Amino acid sequence: MQQLSTRHLLGIKDITAEDIQLIFETADNFKEVLNRPIKKVPSLRDITIANIFFENSTRTKLSFELAEKRLSADVVNFSSSNSSVKKGETLVDTVNNILSMKVDMVVMRHSSVGAPHYLSRKIQANIVNAGDGTHEHPTQALLDAFSIREKLGDVAGKKVAIIGDILHSRVALSNIFALQKLGAEVMVCGPITLIPKYITSLGVRVEHDVRKALAWCDVANILRIQLERQQIKYFPSLREYSLYYGINKKLLSQLDKEIVIMHPGPINRGVELNSDVADGPHSIILNQVENGVAIRMAVLYLLASVK
Ligand code: CP
Repeated sequence: MQQLSTRHLLGIKDITAEDIQLIFETADNFKEVLNRPIKKVPSLRDITIANIFFENSTRTKLSFELAEKRLSADVVNFSSSNSSVKKGETLVDTVNNILSMKVDMVVMRHSSVGAPHYLSRKIQANIVNAGDGTHEHPTQALLDAFSIREKLGDVAGKKVAIIGDILHSRVALSNIFALQKLGAEVMVCGPITLIPKYITSLGVRVEHDVRKALAWCDVANILRIQLERQQIKYFPSLREYSLYYGINKKLLSQLDKEIVIMHPGPINRGVELNSDVADGPHSIILNQVENGVAIRMAVLYLLASVK
C-alpha cells in the first residue's frame, strides 16, 4: 500500500506532490462511499480521534467529525471556550490529559501560528492541523485543489487568482503551496495593505486591480476580510473595500469567458462576494464543503496507516 511521507499533516509546505495525489486518489474512493445509501466504512474502527478546537469553526469541525464517524473512528470533541483552559491549563497539559484517555490522533485548530507543530514535538499521537492562526490550513487547500480538479479535470496549467485579505489568511498560504505543487499558476489580488511583502518570494503574481485578476484567471478563490485578526485599519471602510474588491455579477458579465468561483467560507455576503455570484451558476462553494468530508477521510485514513 502507498503511504504518505509524513505521520502528521501540519502544512502543505511539508508534503510532496505525490502525497497530494495519493490523498486525491483516496478521496475519490471515499467520495464514492459517501454517495452510497450506507455512507460508512470500518477503516478506523480501532482508532480514537480528539478534535481540539481553540478557535471558532463551523465547516472544518463538522467536516472532520463527519469524516471520522464515516470511517467508524471513536470521536471526542473539545472546545476551549467551555474547558479548563479557562482556568489556566496549558496547551500541552490539556492535550496530554486528553491523550492519557488513549487517543490516537489529534485534529487541532489554534489561533497561534505553529501550535500544532509544537504539539507534534511533545506528544506521540498523529496531529492534523485544522488551521493555525494566519499560517496554514492544509485540509482546506486540499479540498480546494480537489474541487478544481473535479470541476476542470486537472489543476496543472490552470490559472488561480486568490482575491482578498491575503495578509491574514492561512487558506491563501496553503492554497499557494498546494496549487504550485500541482502545477497551477497562482496570482494574489487585494489592496496593497493586505498583501504581505514576502509573497513574491513564493513565486506568485501580484495584482491590485480586481478586473485584471478576473480577466487573467480560470478560477477565482475569494477570501474573507478577517476583521478579527486586524489590530489596525488596513482600508478605509468595508463599503469602500466592497466597491473596489467585491465580486458581483456585473463584474463577471464584463469578462469574455466564464470563470469558476470559490470561497472557503464563512462568506461576508455583500463585502467580498455578492449573493448573485455566491449562489450563482459558476460558484462551487458548496461542492468545496461536500468534498471536504472525502478529503478529510482520506487524510485521516492515510495518516493512520503510516508506520
Ligand atoms: N473554511 C473554514 O475553515 O471554515 P470554518 O472556520 O467554519 O471551519
